[in-house]
Amino acid sequence: MLLSKLRSARKFGEGQSNPWSVYEQLRACGDVVPSPWGGVMVTSYEACSQVLRDRTYGTPDLEWRLQQGEPRWTAPASTLFSRMIMLLNPPEHTRQRRVLGNTFDRQTLTHLSTVVGELVDERLDELERRMHQDGEADYAEIVGDGLPVAAVGRWLGVPSADFELLRTWTHGQAWSQELFPTPAQLAVADESALNLKAYFEALVLERTKSPGDDVLSSWIREWAEVEKDPEEAASIVQRLATFSIMAGLETTSNLLNAAMWQLDRHPDQADWLRYHPEGIPAAVEEVLRYDPAVAITTRVGSRSDSLSDVAVGKGQLVYVCIGSAHHDPRFISDPDRFDVRRSGPARHLAFGQGAHFCLGAGLGRLEGQLLLRRMLTRFPTLRVVSEPIWEPRVAFRRMASMRVGLAPRARFAGEGL
Ligand code: HEM
Repeated sequence: MLLSKLRSARKFGEGQSNPWSVYEQLRACGDVVPSPWGGVMVTSYEACSQVLRDRTYGTPDLEWRLQQGEPRWTAPASTLFSRMIMLLNPPEHTRQRRVLGNTFDRQTLTHLSTVVGELVDERLDELERRMHQDGEADYAEIVGDGLPVAAVGRWLGVPSADFELLRTWTHGQAWSQELFPTPAQLAVADESALNLKAYFEALVLERTKSPGDDVLSSWIREWAEVEKDPEEAASIVQRLATFSIMAGLETTSNLLNAAMWQLDRHPDQADWLRYHPEGIPAAVEEVLRYDPAVAITTRVGSRSDSLSDVAVGKGQLVYVCIGSAHHDPRFISDPDRFDVRRSGPARHLAFGQGAHFCLGAGLGRLEGQLLLRRMLTRFPTLRVVSEPIWEPRVAFRRMASMRVGLAPRARFAGEGL
């Protein structure tokens, strides 16, 4: 009953602004629940963590997709996506991780903090300009989307004039990763994925001829040494660059938007952070826990197994419900309370766990922390002025719009709670 409700909910975008009650009902069905459309849904923290760490659960890779025979899996957007690092299985996945190494090590992050700080100021300048001009502005567009695409774009060495196009194509291709994309959404995803591929193929070719002092050029050099086939080397770099834009934008935007949204709903916590900026890193972790961008990721059983006494067959799809796991009361007390002052070390699965643990976690955290640090002091009266609008997406959460404006005076702690 609930699962069929979930299925119809995507049509109307229900449950987007409050997925937590849906998660609760889902967990009430069991830690592992056979789903009516096939496969199993894993809802508890413990079981989600177990699947992500267990190497016998692979990703739904190209071979698996082609066996399904449904457009949702065989459409160009889906097959192209399946060749990205996150969907690879060993040995190719292991090889690509080894060559990439620790992408955002301490030294890189120190260097990037200056760049990201400048980008944060630039985005906040634009937000202020639009609020001054129109009385209010779309935070999700200017900051939520604008900062991550610029941060990854600058890091890779993508011309800034192309950020807007990349943003549109990235959101377009993401429909292919949803649970039940419609034919129209799949068509948008196909076109967007093919555009992204052509764009990065051309950029890789250009940087191969005239290298620069950027990550794309350094990947081209590295892969020319590691991969004997020059065409394959160029193709790997193209896929890594494409995936970096996709992975950096579709996820960090939710972190930045959810932070603004939750602090607006909890002005006492925003006030506290303004006077205790040392609490900002923990606040970012609480946003990642409370409202993770990747609410559902998928794995495939590689042998007959059972999870919490529910049979999982070889080749069966396993939906790892990270959003539900983060609100499991056996994992965290009072899980539906947003609280930036939670005690104890932050634990969550927002960046995944195990072999596919996010390579960009350092950059995502840096963007979230620098944004909060500057935004809270620069705009103490910034408020959300109308209900955010959500895309009807279940797996990768996306706020399409959130209007903000400056209130006539600062709200005092406790007011309006
Ligand atoms: C708040 C920001 C971010 C969040 C919440 C996030 C979340 C995730 C999650 C959950 C996964 C694993 C999915 C799975 O196991 O199925 C992942 C993988 C990945 N992410 Fe992120 N991500 C973020 C930012 C970034 C950024 C900024 C980049 C790159 C610039 C990036 C690059 C990657 C890559 C390359 C992988 C694949 C790793 C692998 O398969 O070995 N991510 N991310």
